[in-house]
Amino acid sequence: MKQPKLVVANWKMYLNVHEASLLANRLGKKVQSHRDVEVVLAPNYLCLQPLSREIDHHKFKLAAQDGYYIDEGAYTGAVSFNQLRELVNYAIIGHSERRRYFNESLDEVRDKVAAAVRNGITPILCVGETKEERTQKETKQVLHDQVVTALSNLTAEDAESLVLAYEPVWAIGANEPAKPDTIAAAVDWIRFQVRELYGKTTESSIRVLYGGSDEPEYVSGIMATPGVDGLLVGRASLNYERFSDIITGVHLAVLSEDKTVKA
Ligand code: PGA
Repeated sequence: MKQPKLVVANWKMYLNVHEASLLANRLGKKVQSHRDVEVVLAPNYLCLQPLSREIDHHKFKLAAQDGYYIDEGAYTGAVSFNQLRELVNYAIIGHSERRRYFNESLDEVRDKVAAAVRNGITPILCVGETKEERTQKETKQVLHDQVVTALSNLTAEDAESLVLAYEPVWAIGANEPAKPDTIAAAVDWIRFQVRELYGKTTESSIRVLYGGSDEPEYVSGIMATPGVDGLLVGRASLNYERFSDIITGVHLAVLSEDKTVKA
């Protein structure tokens, strides 16, 4: 069976526990369940426990926005994947804001990916080039280094359920997303890295998302891009109407894809 598309709400460091509950509640009422779309909410750590009690788990899954790569110990302020394992199915790892503001290195991202997998949590590995790297024509090298290093401790079996997200740094918090042909080229290159490492079967079983200024009006164009299996949504996910329109848009994209395949 084909894997469902994936739509992830990255709430970043917005919303306190009360606000997150309110938004999840509104989404619960507004969002329709679709078998072909899996919806994941990624609030801050504090909200995970209350939301896990409140949400309809048939409609929403939870993700952490990060996690520490050691399972337990004297690491003040850290939260391990081992502590998150009962609360979340997914974890966003290597988001460009973590790489940039928290100096996360390629090796740290690799260790986090391995720690998530070890604890039964599916990583949503974010990769993407900065504006400067794109200008310098370093996009391919950057994506190669980010993907290959992050996956270097995983077996093909570990890698099968992976989610990768192409998030060009210059398109995050911008006025519009990257153009479909730019997304297509990057996603193709990312998929090629996975194929080189593990072969075609693994490559076809992973899901690759696009993130960066996703809004309802761009969904059909992005979802029609070859190799794209869903969206990682920042700002628009903080608004229940826009986010539910995005989910509906992804569902409609699947329906029109199926029609094209059958025709
Ligand atoms: P944005 O953020 O949708 O607000 O551009 C996306 C992200 O950072 O994951």
